Amino acid sequence: MTRRLLVTSALPYANGPIHLGHLVEYLQTDFWARFQRLCGHRVVYVCADDTHGTAVMMRAEQEGRAPEDLIAAMSAAHQRDFAAFGVSFDHYGSTHSPANRAVCGEIWARLRERGLVVERAVPRLFDATRRMFLADRFVKGTCPRCGAADQYGDACEKCGSTYAATELVEPRSVFSGATPELRDSTQLFVRLEPLQPFLTAWTQDSGALQPEVRNYLKGHFLDKPLQDWDVSRPAPYFGFEIPDAPGNFWYVWFDAPIGYVAATAEWCEHNGERLDDWWRSGDAEVVHFLGKDITYFHTLFWPALLHVGGFSLPRRVHIHGFLRVNGEKMSKSRGTFVTAERYLAHLEPEWLRYYYASKLGPKIDDLDFQTDEFVGKVNSDLVGRVVNLASRSAKFVAEVGLSTRYPDDGGLFAAAAAESERIAAAYDACDFREAMRSIMTLADAANEFVERRAPWKLKKDPDRAGELQDVCTVVLNLFHQIAVYLTPVLPELSAKAGALLGSDMSRWSLAHTQLVGRPVQPFQHMMARVEAAKVDEMFTPEAPKPSSPQLDAEPLAAEITIDDFQKVDLRVAEIVAAAEVPEAKKLLRLTLSLGGDVRREVFAGIKGAYEPSSLVGRLVVVVANLKPRKMKFGTSEGMVVAAGADGEVYLLSPDQGARPGHRLH
Ligand code: MSP
Ligand code: ZN
Repeated sequence: MTRRLLVTSALPYANGPIHLGHLVEYLQTDFWARFQRLCGHRVVYVCADDTHGTAVMMRAEQEGRAPEDLIAAMSAAHQRDFAAFGVSFDHYGSTHSPANRAVCGEIWARLRERGLVVERAVPRLFDATRRMFLADRFVKGTCPRCGAADQYGDACEKCGSTYAATELVEPRSVFSGATPELRDSTQLFVRLEPLQPFLTAWTQDSGALQPEVRNYLKGHFLDKPLQDWDVSRPAPYFGFEIPDAPGNFWYVWFDAPIGYVAATAEWCEHNGERLDDWWRSGDAEVVHFLGKDITYFHTLFWPALLHVGGFSLPRRVHIHGFLRVNGEKMSKSRGTFVTAERYLAHLEPEWLRYYYASKLGPKIDDLDFQTDEFVGKVNSDLVGRVVNLASRSAKFVAEVGLSTRYPDDGGLFAAAAAESERIAAAYDACDFREAMRSIMTLADAANEFVERRAPWKLKKDPDRAGELQDVCTVVLNLFHQIAVYLTPVLPELSAKAGALLGSDMSRWSLAHTQLVGRPVQPFQHMMARVEAAKVDEMFTPEAPKPSSPQLDAEPLAAEITIDDFQKVDLRVAEIVAAAEVPEAKKLLRLTLSLGGDVRREVFAGIKGAYEPSSLVGRLVVVVANLKPRKMKFGTSEGMVVAAGADGEVYLLSPDQGARPGHRLH
């Protein structure tokens, strides 16, 4: 029976490039999709960039460009990488699309109808100078657990602990450096508890989940009341504004999985199909592939949204583990954080496809990229055991072609054909490792045959030309079977095998077809051996380029022109009075003289470093034409120039000779 499969990989974030870890996922999804197509099933494999949220917003801000601009460039880069690795998407969309906005609105309306949306005031950090709520990533401060300075509001990069942004010690806004205040924000929540019976039944009994995932959910989430899910974020936020809650945006994890449906809708649009035939039909199977870090989004929130929206539940959610490199987590400083682009500059994509396939089982275990093993598998399995079959036989029959009748091979062809179902079952179960192992066992048997019948010896005896043709016919048929079985993993190698033997490699059942009485094309190089040195080179951290010096503090702001800069009126000023502001942890109130009787009052966050009385008489630089800002304790009429990090901020002082009122040039 022909199956109809809607296959997805998780949507990569638009805030960074595709790396070897990502490829664990996209490559295995591709193996599976290609395998199903080869079996004659209808497959629609969709994906999209996940574009919304604070990370993209922040990166765009740092690069001084519009988020739309950033995500367009990222999408192009992602798609280029995926294409280079042979990932066969039928459609690649974006969560920032009209189609996605429409499906989000549809599901949102159903949630409202069912009374599943509730509003609640939640205290959040607020940057009063910028007049904005601060997402976790926009607050930095000292880790409340280990005391490491300069950590983000969601997690500490030093000790790995996670916490609420409100727990940070000495928090400050990454935008203004201001100390954020707590303000109530009205947030929208989706209630999950009413869906508990549905979620329990689906996760535990549908058969869609791997056993370890089922148990994890049961033991960690479904054993207690399900918490409401906070799905709104206050402006400014790069995302979709919630139609019936102006000023609020859907949280990125609300609209991201809906992107699966939206990408399908776009594919349908281009192909004259109906979305409901894929997402609201009992005979189409939705299959998701994703990594273990995003399990609960896909096994609790997402099924809840689908259920309420009246869409099909996934028939299968296949979750995989994480990539490590030579036993350790991928790391930028060790050079093991390798982007797809960097891999491609050093090594061949099909090597990685095969290597990953040979390592991936049906469970969630992490997998380790080991250089020696990679080299060994490529050189001995692919080149030594598979390609060698063709390179050691094709040339002897280039002139005469294959025998007209399939010769006696002692049962080798039949035995390999009989493996077809077992190998297919392994592919279908995402046990790619088992599939590769079985295929290599067939290759061993074929190589044994070559060794025993030694075509290179037969070649020397003109009387045995017929035997030579028969032996090569057998070897090339065994090679063809193996190439068919490897097609989902190695489409290029398979195509080369097909070109050699005039086979279109389009069906799994070709493994049962004996090729006879046909020409054999001249043997062309099929696959190179890999050198370990090349792999090491790829993993060697690049020396920082002198042209782009590394700043250890904040990245540089966007470029401005001299005219932009001229708008800032910087003046020398003298501090004539300095006082503490009792309510503020970091602020001093400074009275400045700008020469003559021009006086200014400003607040400066320098209390940590200075005794107020020591400042009187000192010269400083002040931004004199800054629009006055109302603060809790008064109005600040300018800004004193100071620099520093980690809550320690120091004044910059003019040298001898400067006088209050002088303008800086
Ligand atoms: N944008 C979310 C997914 C939204 S799906 C509606 C996301 N993006 S991601 O770019 O961080 O990751 C994309 C996929 O790659 C995820 O399934 C993730 O688990 C997987 N991997 C990312 N790094 C990985 C490794 N180091 N190893 C294996 N898989 C990894 O999560
Ligand atoms: Zn810490």
